[in-house]
Amino acid sequence: MKNISVIGSGTMGNGIAHVFAQFGYQVNLIDINKEALEKAINTIGKNLDRQVAKGTITQAHKAETLKNITVFTDMQSGVSNADLVVEAATENLDLKLKIFKDLDAFAKPEAILASNTSSISITKIASVTNRGADVIGMHFMNPVPVMKLVEVIRGYATSNETTATIMDLSKKIEKAPVEVNDYPGFVANRILMPMINEAIYTLYENVAGVKEIDTVMKLGMAHPMGPLQLADFIGLDVCLAILRVLHDGFGNPKYAPCPLLVNMVTAGNKGIKSGEGFYNYSEGVKEAKVAAKFSRQ
Ligand code: CAA
Repeated sequence: MKNISVIGSGTMGNGIAHVFAQFGYQVNLIDINKEALEKAINTIGKNLDRQVAKGTITQAHKAETLKNITVFTDMQSGVSNADLVVEAATENLDLKLKIFKDLDAFAKPEAILASNTSSISITKIASVTNRGADVIGMHFMNPVPVMKLVEVIRGYATSNETTATIMDLSKKIEKAPVEVNDYPGFVANRILMPMINEAIYTLYENVAGVKEIDTVMKLGMAHPMGPLQLADFIGLDVCLAILRVLHDGFGNPKYAPCPLLVNMVTAGNKGIKSGEGFYNYSEGVKEAKVAAKFSRQ
C-alpha cells in the first residue's frame, strides 16, 4: 500500500493526511473547498512544527511530510491511483452514501474504502457499493497525530483480509488498532457519549457548574479534559448527532440527548468551532483560556 487518498480536509481529514504522510505514504488530500485545503496544509505545517519543537521529528522530516501531500478539489482525479481511500467528510449519512457511491465508481476495483465515521453504520455505507468486503471503518481520534487509538470497524460484509490489511497498516503508522463490530456508536462513542450526556444532565439539573463538573472528572478520574470541555472540543453538533444514532439504533431511552444539548446546538453554540459551547472561546477571553458559560447560581 503506497497511495492513500483522504476525503475531507477538516480537523480529522488533515490529521489523518498528516499521519500517513509522516510515515512516508503518498497522500492525496481531497476537498471541494480550495480554501479549506489551504487551511489544512497550514494546520498540518503548524502541527508538524510542534513535533519539530519537541524533537520527535526533524525539520527535514517535516519538509518530506509536506511534500508527500498533494491537494485535489476533484474527487475522481484524487482517488484514481489510491490503494486506500479514507473518507473523513462531514458526519452526514446522505453525504457519506453519495461519496461512497462515487468512490465505488472512481477508485480502482481492488482499493479499500474506509470511513472515519464516528457512528454511522459501516454496513449501511458498504451497501451502496459493489465491494462490501472491502469497505471498513477506520475511526481515528482527535487530535489524530497525538491519539494512539484507531477503532477498526468491521461491517457485516467486511472481509478478514481487508480487516487484517487495515489492522496492519494502522500499526505501521504507530497507532494502536482495536477491532470492533458494527453496532451503533461502535465502542468508543457508545461509552463516551453517554458519559458526556450525563455530564450535561448534571449541569442541566444544577447539581454543579461547568468548571466543577469538569474538575471532578479531571482530578478524580484522571481524564485529560473534563467531559464538557471534551464535548466542546468534539463539537456539540457532533455529540448530538452521535447520541441520536445511539437513541435511534437501540431504541433505548437511556441514550436520549439532554434537552440542554439540543437547545445549545439549535442556538448555534457548537463548542470551539463556533466560539461558544459550555465555555466561551471568543477573542476577549483568550487570556483566561476559556470562561465557563454556566456557573452553579
Ligand atoms: N498535532 C500534533 N501534536 C499535538 C496536536 C496536534 N494537533 N495537539 C496537541 N499536540 C501535542 C502537543 O504538542 C503536546 O505535546 P507534548 O506533551 O509532547 O509536548 C501534547 O500534544 C499535549 O498538547 P498541549 O500541551 O497543547 O495540551 P494538553 O496537554 O491540554 O493536551 C490534548 C491536549 C492532547 C488534546 C489533551 O487535552 C487530550 O488528550 N484531550 C482528550 C482528547 C480526546 O479525548 N480525544 C478523543 C475525542 S473523541 C474523538 O475524537 C472521536 C469521536 O468520534 C467523537
